[in-house]
Amino acid sequence: MQIVDINCSKKYQIRIEKGIIENLGSILNEYSAVSKFCIITDKNVMGIYEEKINHVLLKCNSEIIYYVIEPGEKSKSGEAYLEILEFLAKNEFTRTDMLIAFGGGVVGDLAGFVAASYLRGIDFIQIPTTILAAVDSSVGGKTAINLKAGKNLAGAFHQPVMVICDSEMFNTLTKDVRRDGFAEVIKYGIINDAELFDKLSENVDIEVIIKKSVLAKAKLVEEDEFDTGSRRLLNLGHTFGHAIEIAGEYRYSHGEAVAMGIMIVSKAAVAKGYLAKNDYDKIKNLISSYEFDLEPEFTAEKLYEIMLLDKKREGKSITVVVPFAIGDSRLVKLKLEEAKEYLVEGLKQGAQWM
Ligand SMILES: NC(=O)c1ccc[n+]([C@@H]2O[C@H](COP(=O)([O-])OP(=O)(O)OC[C@H]3O[C@@H](n4cnc5c(N)ncnc54)[C@H](O)[C@@H]3O)[C@@H](O)[C@H]2O)c1
Ligand SMILES: [Zn+2]
Repeated sequence: MQIVDINCSKKYQIRIEKGIIENLGSILNEYSAVSKFCIITDKNVMGIYEEKINHVLLKCNSEIIYYVIEPGEKSKSGEAYLEILEFLAKNEFTRTDMLIAFGGGVVGDLAGFVAASYLRGIDFIQIPTTILAAVDSSVGGKTAINLKAGKNLAGAFHQPVMVICDSEMFNTLTKDVRRDGFAEVIKYGIINDAELFDKLSENVDIEVIIKKSVLAKAKLVEEDEFDTGSRRLLNLGHTFGHAIEIAGEYRYSHGEAVAMGIMIVSKAAVAKGYLAKNDYDKIKNLISSYEFDLEPEFTAEKLYEIMLLDKKREGKSITVVVPFAIGDSRLVKLKLEEAKEYLVEGLKQGAQWM
């Protein structure tokens, strides 16, 4: 088993092991004060794992109830959120009972926000079942639902009490969902872990990849839990990626958009003289090896217009995460015109150095 200890406002463990789910009953028995657990999951995950979960939970001494949502981003809604709160109240959930988010990032964000707000906050466990959830959304305590005005606009910081990650569950992911998670893993390598980046081109055990990714994220979360400083490095590829998602009306998945966002900012970083061409080539090769498209069909102008609406914009400037080397990315505050230049350079075809 790989264990990562998280030390932020709450201390908790991330346990990563192939087949760890078999021990779920006894793990839950560690929480002897809990009389009821509510497992929140989605229909896809429930469809695949229902039998297994029922079986392993025979060993659990507490009562277990389930709440199953529709799969997909549309479930991160105000309506779904309120329905779960009502369900818990109807089932007389108290502050000593516990939620379990069993699924991908959608389940984790929604169940996490329910846990953050039901009775002003109850404990919850994350059992991420996608790679993205394992390396990203289950770590760090950000929970959220979407509003009509945009994604993740209502939420709270609420850390889980434990994260249990069974890498065997990734075997049932579709190819696209699996690949999406790797966009975030590549991101961590470029932000602060050159060794992780190198491991991605070798055939390394998925648990090692997950552990290193979680450590890369944990480091930033521990430094800056509430996202006002270095945690913003996690936005590498996301400022431009987010604009790509909107320009394409969510036709590109998050991972695809982030991969293209990383390419744009890396290419611009070479043009600005920050990133060595050799590192750029390595980034390009790794992203291509995961069969991501390298650039969107949108113009710099179009992406710039969308970027102006970014909630992370600070008046006349915007902070972009720029790779200076693999494993060394930095926050760079750009005037809006400079950010536009980045887009122009980042989307330029046949630059001299290429
Ligand atoms: N809180 C954070 O810090 C944070 C960070 C990154 C992303 N997010 C959020 O995460 C969400 C995306 O998460 P995601 O990519 O995991 O998407 P998801 O939860 O929608 O899962 C993707 C698909 O895979 C299915 N699935 C899940 N586990 C499976 C398994 N083991 N086998 C087969 N199918 C399975 C799901 O039913 C779904 O159809 C977004 O809403 C995003 O905003 C949050
Ligand atoms: Zn992301």
